[in-house]
Amino acid sequence: MKNTTPGFRKERATSSFRSLRGSLISSRAPRPTPPAPSFVSPTPRPSSHSPLYERRICFIGAGTMGHALIQGLLAKGMPARQLYAADPSPQARRKISRLGLSVSDDNRECRQADVIVLAVKPQEMPSVLADLASNLHPPQWVISIAAGIPLSFLESRLPRLPIVRVMPNLPATVGQGFSALAMGCRVRLRHRRIAMEIFNAVGQVVRVAEPLLDAITAVSGSGPAYVFFLAQVWEEAALRLGLPRAVARRAVAQTLKGSVQLLEKNSLSPQEWIARVASKRGTTEAALRVLEQRRVRFAIVAALQAAAKRSRQLSRLSQ
Ligand SMILES: NC(=O)c1ccc[n+]([C@@H]2O[C@H](COP(=O)([O-])OP(=O)(O)OC[C@H]3O[C@@H](n4cnc5c(N)ncnc54)[C@H](OP(=O)(O)O)[C@@H]3O)[C@@H](O)[C@H]2O)c1
Repeated sequence: MKNTTPGFRKERATSSFRSLRGSLISSRAPRPTPPAPSFVSPTPRPSSHSPLYERRICFIGAGTMGHALIQGLLAKGMPARQLYAADPSPQARRKISRLGLSVSDDNRECRQADVIVLAVKPQEMPSVLADLASNLHPPQWVISIAAGIPLSFLESRLPRLPIVRVMPNLPATVGQGFSALAMGCRVRLRHRRIAMEIFNAVGQVVRVAEPLLDAITAVSGSGPAYVFFLAQVWEEAALRLGLPRAVARRAVAQTLKGSVQLLEKNSLSPQEWIARVASKRGTTEAALRVLEQRRVRFAIVAALQAAAKRSRQLSRLSQ
């Protein structure tokens, strides 16, 4: 990539530090609010005439993400009798049956469903698809959340079925997910609407073209891990400064939570929020200077580029 040459990095490091300084001392006139993005935010429950309520949905794989989606749908008012799950793990099945769902260790049980959600690890997908191929027929259709498994692979294994590929993320487990949906070639409006509603039950959704899913994977799919990494390092630093662990953990988590709420107000850009915290020659400016000198900004860009590259590699491996 052209813009990762050392020369480019050096120049950018200097100018970005200058722009940071500029923002700290510049006037704080808020920018106009950016145009509303085409996200769908979580709603308490779908309207009573939503076709979602009439569908039977079977989850193949009921681990972390399958369980989160089931919980989200139940919380939105989806009747438990419309949901099924198949999983070889007795522990996962026990957890799901406590929610009032029918469970099985046989994936072929999904024959009775209208929509099949594939929520197994990517390495399980070839064998799961091989099992399902002769058992599924239109008008049944499929949603896959497996990272790095492209639509072309899914469509070649399930040749007549509409397929939606989704990249959700871990905050879906607390109803605060971010899911990007890419539509396969046989997907119609009715499938798309239902798929959006399913993921809307666990957070925000956005529709993207499939090639953007590598970037989405890097940004929001893997994103929670970057935040947890930051929290871990931040907490370690707090301990070194003498705070007790309980205070350090709470101070970090509450600071993250409050800052996210400010960002969500969408009235100021991150840079403008920085200016609200930092005063000239103050403590925040001292800290930010170290972050810029140590090129943290470029480490983050490089980390996300590595994640997107790996996502592309994984997709190619399954083709
Ligand atoms: N976790 C995330 O943050 C995240 C984010 C975005 C996308 N995803 C995608 O979501 C998918 C599921 O991830 P997860 O975190 O929910 O994984 P998980 O917690 O391991 O859940 C997968 C479940 O599938 C079961 N399973 C294994 N083989 C199966 C088979 N042949 N048929 C039916 N079920 C089977 C597993 O049982 P055993 O435990 O017995 O193997 C497990 O209960 C993955 O493809 C991942 O790429 C995850």
